[in-house]
Amino acid sequence: TRPDTAWRDEIRRLAAERDAVLLAHNYQLPEIQEVADHTGDSLALSRIAAESEASVIVFCGVHFMAETAKILSPDKTVLIPDARAGCSLADSIDGAQLRDWKAEHPDAVVVSYVNTTAEVKAETDICCTSSNAVDVVRSIPAEREVLFCPDQFLGAHVKRETGRENLHVWAGECHVHAGINGPELAERAASVPDADLFIHPECGCATSALYLAGAGTVPAEKVKILSTGDMVTAARETEASSVLVATEIGMLHQLRKAAPEIDFQAVNERASCRYMKMITADALLRCLRDGTDEVRVDAATAQRARDAVRRMIAIGQ
Ligand code: 13P
Ligand code: SF4
Repeated sequence: TRPDTAWRDEIRRLAAERDAVLLAHNYQLPEIQEVADHTGDSLALSRIAAESEASVIVFCGVHFMAETAKILSPDKTVLIPDARAGCSLADSIDGAQLRDWKAEHPDAVVVSYVNTTAEVKAETDICCTSSNAVDVVRSIPAEREVLFCPDQFLGAHVKRETGRENLHVWAGECHVHAGINGPELAERAASVPDADLFIHPECGCATSALYLAGAGTVPAEKVKILSTGDMVTAARETEASSVLVATEIGMLHQLRKAAPEIDFQAVNERASCRYMKMITADALLRCLRDGTDEVRVDAATAQRARDAVRRMIAIGQ
């Protein structure tokens, strides 16, 4: 199927027929972002899913995002256009591993990134996303130990920002963001010296960016560690004429829309998430036509995960 006007009209017609709201993450293909009712980062989309009055939520993103929507709205039908759209970061810790880690630190507060399975969320005290991870950790009394999982780079960012020594970080990573490395960033920054650097905290290069700023190679005020949603806000506010973007390349679509006068360039053009890209024009059409793939979360697991997810959407409002 070509994502043309006929496709778009059919998607909108089927969405209305099913009373479905279409949510698209910032890393989705441009045609999916354009046809959706809302595009945003994981936190914004979770909040919209929680408040939506539609009977069906179609989540154009990866599986843990659709699962999070189901945890928040157990009575709604939640669909994902392709249930194989997983996440390498969510795969880096499972429920049994987290239980073993908790047993080593029985008094610790568990903070899990939203990029985790429902089973891991059920073992968690507070979930967070990249846009509120620092606020979530700051909400925990300073004397309490914190277990932060699964992303080591986001964990390192939170540790730097909060200065907290009692924060233990799991060694997981996202293969797409971990691959955007420091030497690559340094080379790109040297080739566009006036550019702002927008860096997602899941990136392997996030520490290097601060190192470059510390060494005076890049002015510190040009280095911005941001969630995907906060990148869109920063794009509207910056005075820079060029921005180097360190995250999944789907992000460039919203950035170029938000600030068409700015030259946005990917730090690594190969940083494409194959899971996000499984949500194709055909898959979305099939989803709305046939009601597939439905996302289900076992009721007991969802109940145990719900408080952690609700705390996440309440913090940093
Ligand atoms: P945010 O949209 O919360 O910044 O997360 C990015 C991400 O990697 C989701 O997979
Ligand atoms: Fe997961 Fe990385 Fe893809 Fe985001 S970009 S969905 S963290 S694999």
